Order: sequence, then C-alpha cells, then structure tokens
Amino acid sequence: MDSDSLSRLRQAIRDVPDFPSPGILFKDITPVLADPDLLRLTIETMAATVTDQKIDKIVGIDARGFIFGAMLAAHLGCGFVPARKKGKLPWRTRGVDYALEYGTASLEMHEDAILPGENILLADDLLATGGTAAAALQLITTAEANLIGSVFFIELAFLNGREKISSYGPAHAIITF
Ligand code: PRP
Ligand code: MG
Repeated sequence: MDSDSLSRLRQAIRDVPDFPSPGILFKDITPVLADPDLLRLTIETMAATVTDQKIDKIVGIDARGFIFGAMLAAHLGCGFVPARKKGKLPWRTRGVDYALEYGTASLEMHEDAILPGENILLADDLLATGGTAAAALQLITTAEANLIGSVFFIELAFLNGREKISSYGPAHAIITF
C-alpha cells in the first residue's frame, strides 16, 4: 500500500477515549468499514500478505473478526470458519479458555470445521494483548490443521501481543499503533 493510502486508512480509525471503560482508548474501525475505497483497500492489503500460499479456510474471531475474515475469505476464494464465544455454536464443539484482564472467556469451533492438514489463516480486527488470538490459534492447532499464520487489521504494538503468538507462524498487521 502506498504511504498516502496508509495514512488515509490510519486517519479513518477513530479514537474513542474511555470506552468501554475509563482509561481505555478504543480504536473504532466503523469509519473504515463505511468507506467503500478504504474497505476494499483494507481487504486487498490483508489478502496480499498471503498471496504466495494456498489457503483452504480462514478462521475469524467472534465478533469483529467475522467482518474481516469473511470478506477476506470471499476475496481469496476460500472457506470461512467462525470461532465463536461460548455457547453460540449449535453442533459439537471444541473450546479453549483464555484470560481477560478480569476473569476468563472461551472460544469454540465446530469439531468438523477444520479438517486435518487444511491450510488455515486466522483473521481478526485487532491484536492487543494477544490473548484472544492465542486462544484461537490453539484451537486451530488442536484441529491438526496446517497453520499458515495470522492477519490483523490493527496491532497495538505496545501491548506486545505479538510475543504471545510468536510460536504460531507469521503474524501480519496492516496498521500499527
Ligand atoms: C477485541 C478485538 C480482538 C480482541 C483483542 O475483541 O476484536 O478480538 O479484543 O484483544 P486481545 O489481543 O487483548 O485479546 P472483543 O471480544 O473485545 O470484542 P468483539 O466481540 O467486538 O470482537
Ligand atoms: Mg474481537
């Protein structure tokens, strides 16, 4: 992506102070989603990180990862698998617990969503502490998939999430703060 497009994209991400709680500066991606040019640019740039590899399925993380993951899958011509928060999937699941700042959460995937040996890419909107991505990557690994790596729209580099997922293949981010 050229530097002008990159800066337009960066400027379109809206900072919302004190959301969802005091002291948190929330990166709001909805202005990017609402702009046809920026949206296309985002998906094309995320797709370009894996053009040299055949992807069978993209796993997107509930909820914002569904937006990027599903568009990316349609763009690349591969399948899409939702990794959902606990209790949302109707059939047999495998799950993994992960730590939040306060308490824990769980991500689940259908048992048959990924076949052994399939080439899988993880997609999400944001890499922050890396806890969510690490949980999804662990789930993919449990399915005996061939993990290609992960792609994020935004990385908050000061939270060092990249360290938490370093053993799961290359991680790409389009915009870094
Ligand atoms: C947000 C974001 C990432 C995750 C990153 O999800 O969409 O999935 O946090 O944080 P981490 O790297 O510290 O784990 P969240 O579940 O808060 O909201 P969502 O349901 O809107 O995706
Ligand atoms: Mg999320």
